[in-house]
Amino acid sequence: GMMKELLGLRELEAQLEKELGVNQVIVVPGNSDNDEWVKREMGRACISELKAIIKPKDVVAVMGGTTLAAVAEMMKPDAKTREVVFVPARGGLGEQVENQANTISAELASRAGAQYRLLHVPDQISEEAYSSLVLEPSVKDILKLIQSACTVIHGIGDAKMMATRRDSQHSFIDKLNREEAVAEAFGFYFNRSGEPIHKQRTIGLQLDDLGEDKYVISVAGGASKAEAISAYMKYQPSDVLITDEAAAETLLQSR
Ligand code: G3H
Repeated sequence: GMMKELLGLRELEAQLEKELGVNQVIVVPGNSDNDEWVKREMGRACISELKAIIKPKDVVAVMGGTTLAAVAEMMKPDAKTREVVFVPARGGLGEQVENQANTISAELASRAGAQYRLLHVPDQISEEAYSSLVLEPSVKDILKLIQSACTVIHGIGDAKMMATRRDSQHSFIDKLNREEAVAEAFGFYFNRSGEPIHKQRTIGLQLDDLGEDKYVISVAGGASKAEAISAYMKYQPSDVLITDEAAAETLLQSR
């Protein structure tokens, strides 16, 4: 029955909090590998968490991906969200436009009746172009705003899936295989122990920026992401993890 199901989810949440060292875990029913609506349920949970913690004038930085796109879909305006500013946490990572952090930030803002700012950085930029771009006054301004974000919302992906989806070069995919990358988040790749082994060059928040002063909400589900979630949380447990039943069960079984 429904009650038993709910108790089961609460139990999974408690076990995951303990196992991952995450302060708050929210588990929604289902497996987002198989059903799109499960991503939207995680999205709904993420929006209600966001609304519970934001204050007027807050800057909220968001990453890209299909899960974050589902989060944006679930936004509804209220008095609080109208005063927030949404920004992308990092520049382009080689995603299709609907999965880019810029797009998701703009979509969230439009649905929330809030403000947003874009970060214009081309994907796969050279070291040289990168160094001069960060000196541009308009880029500097938005980067300052991004750094000031008090809340960060991001997805977690399977390393190989993300590298392939972003059309990475063969030599790069080989390197990820050799170094046994399992997780991706923010354009950073992590091994099973949660050690960052590679970062995609782009501007915006770096891993070191996700310290104490930022409230980090991770949203990732599907049995296929269990290992990635576990690895990323070893790097640094987020303040909140929103996941699904299939990821939760797979993760707990493999420990
Ligand atoms: O950066 C993207 C995330 O790591 C995962 O993307 O939500 O489409 O699985 P996803």
